[in-house]
Amino acid sequence: MDITRPDRRRFLQLAAVAAIAQAVPARVIAAEAALALRIGIIGSGRVGSALGTSWAKAGHTVMFSSLDIEHDRKLAAVVGTNARAGTPREAAAFGEILLISVPYGALPQLGKDLGALLKGKMVIDTCNPFPNRDGEIANWAREKGAGVASAELLPGARIVRAFNAVGAARMAEAAQRQGPRSGMPMAGDDPAAIAVATRLVRDAGFEPVLVGGLAAMGKYLMPGTPLAGERSPEDIRKIAATLN
Ligand SMILES: NC(=O)c1ccc[n+]([C@@H]2O[C@H](COP(=O)([O-])OP(=O)(O)OC[C@H]3O[C@@H](n4cnc5c(N)ncnc54)[C@H](OP(=O)(O)O)[C@@H]3O)[C@@H](O)[C@H]2O)c1
Repeated sequence: MDITRPDRRRFLQLAAVAAIAQAVPARVIAAEAALALRIGIIGSGRVGSALGTSWAKAGHTVMFSSLDIEHDRKLAAVVGTNARAGTPREAAAFGEILLISVPYGALPQLGKDLGALLKGKMVIDTCNPFPNRDGEIANWAREKGAGVASAELLPGARIVRAFNAVGAARMAEAAQRQGPRSGMPMAGDDPAAIAVATRLVRDAGFEPVLVGGLAAMGKYLMPGTPLAGERSPEDIRKIAATLN
């Protein structure tokens, strides 16, 4: 296999970041910061625009997408050189990792629209099921557990749940905040996706705390659970230990 091919080189670079992020502290991951990621943002509302802006400022390249390309073009222009706009399919193809941040009720159609583009793709899932906003699919997702439900609706994606129960306004300013960082609970099953998401959680200004797998813990990563709200990493670990 020709390892000089750009996609192969890129894969090896990402694998190196993934391996490092799993094993070592933030200080060492910071040394890898030269590797900027391509991030597809699907849903450029309050959460998507806040996190996409932070990641662009951290040196990554983001593509904003939604149902309104004009909104995304304007947003990208404000964010600057590291941002661009596209359709959800273009963002899914562009991103080495995707942020999916849409109302939960949009996930079934989105999963169908993106289809094969999701196969093997790392995805950070911020989406929360609310019956009054999202309808019956939200009751189904709550019964099943949001992590497992998202994985079913986005087939083939390597999902990490994160950014589910901290307000978007706090996400927008977290990277600029001084002092100790708030913890960000994460749940996922795919080590590489967890590792890359870990770095992006840090770049957004939070301290990542992996609380477990999608089935066991994904259901707790949403508003109204003991892990919701902004807490220290230590408190998140203590609370998570009582939930297993
Ligand atoms: N707001 C918070 O503080 C917060 C915090 C944590 C998690 N969450 C969760 O994260 C998700 C996003 O929340 P938000 O507050 O950012 O919502 P929002 O401001 O309403 O933004 C939703 C975004 O999704 C886009 N969208 C809707 N349907 C789509 C589709 N089929 N394909 C592509 N894009 C689509 C919308 O595009 P258009 O504008 O063009 O319709 C919009 O850009 C929700 O599930 C929410 O529960 C929210």
